Amino acid sequence: MITAVTTAAVASWRRKTVGKVVFVPTMGALHSGHAALIQRARRLAGKDGGVAVSIFVNPTQFGPSEDLSRYPRPIRADAALCRSEGVDLLFRPDVREMYASDVSVAVSEKSLSLRFEGAERPGHFDGVCTVVALLFQMIRPEIAVFGEKDWQQLAVIRRMVRDLKFPIRIAGHPIVREEDGLALSSRNRFLPAGARAMAPRIFQALTAAAMEAEAGTKHASLERQLRRDLGRIPGATLNYASIVEETTLEPLGRITSQTKARALVAVKLGGVRLLDNLAIPLGNSLAP
Ligand code: PAF
Repeated sequence: MITAVTTAAVASWRRKTVGKVVFVPTMGALHSGHAALIQRARRLAGKDGGVAVSIFVNPTQFGPSEDLSRYPRPIRADAALCRSEGVDLLFRPDVREMYASDVSVAVSEKSLSLRFEGAERPGHFDGVCTVVALLFQMIRPEIAVFGEKDWQQLAVIRRMVRDLKFPIRIAGHPIVREEDGLALSSRNRFLPAGARAMAPRIFQALTAAAMEAEAGTKHASLERQLRRDLGRIPGATLNYASIVEETTLEPLGRITSQTKARALVAVKLGGVRLLDNLAIPLGNSLAP
């Protein structure tokens, strides 16, 4: 594995890589969820291709009240995980490598970004789009792998790639969960014990909604039930819970057999914001 900190070192690795380059952008604090993304990247790259991982805690996607300095940076453990997963290039730029001191250009997605996380964290997706666009420019992958845990982020990135015509395929990878259902996240390490014990109820609420959908319940009732179940988790504050069209993230209008729905939720537990989502099968609700 090569560790690069400069754009020039990345460019030199890129020139030498013959096969497909598959890229996994991260902010570090890697866990088994990231390992699954890297394994997927390895399979997509094949034996001739190269797997590139970036670790960059991107300041522009943190709000003024969010603690950027508290974000975990276990550099050694992260590098060890990358090495053991067969990563070819680990790119660890510092802020000066990524942003000129008088940087004045940003990428802004103006539709999908406005709701949910975007409403809770104004400017967050501008930071995400800008840094991902920069990383795409530097690494020039054929494919980039993103986790489905941040479903809205995945949808926003797909839109950016479509609208800016990046010649890159975006592969979404399913959420990796603890045995009790909690979606893996770098933030889980901050959960106090009591909140950790309650956290699996988020996935239980989502699963209950999906099962009700299978049974033919209409989406408006599903959404009410989901909010009620999440609101009943002791100590939890519900940020949002909505069932939306999975690509546009718009509220569901008329349901057809083509409609693909996703429940998106964010809950604050023990001072930690936990995001989760699940596909909601609405086919059976079409019956009159
Ligand atoms: O999902 C993340 O870890 C970050 O938002 C990303 C995509 C690496 C951009 O900083």
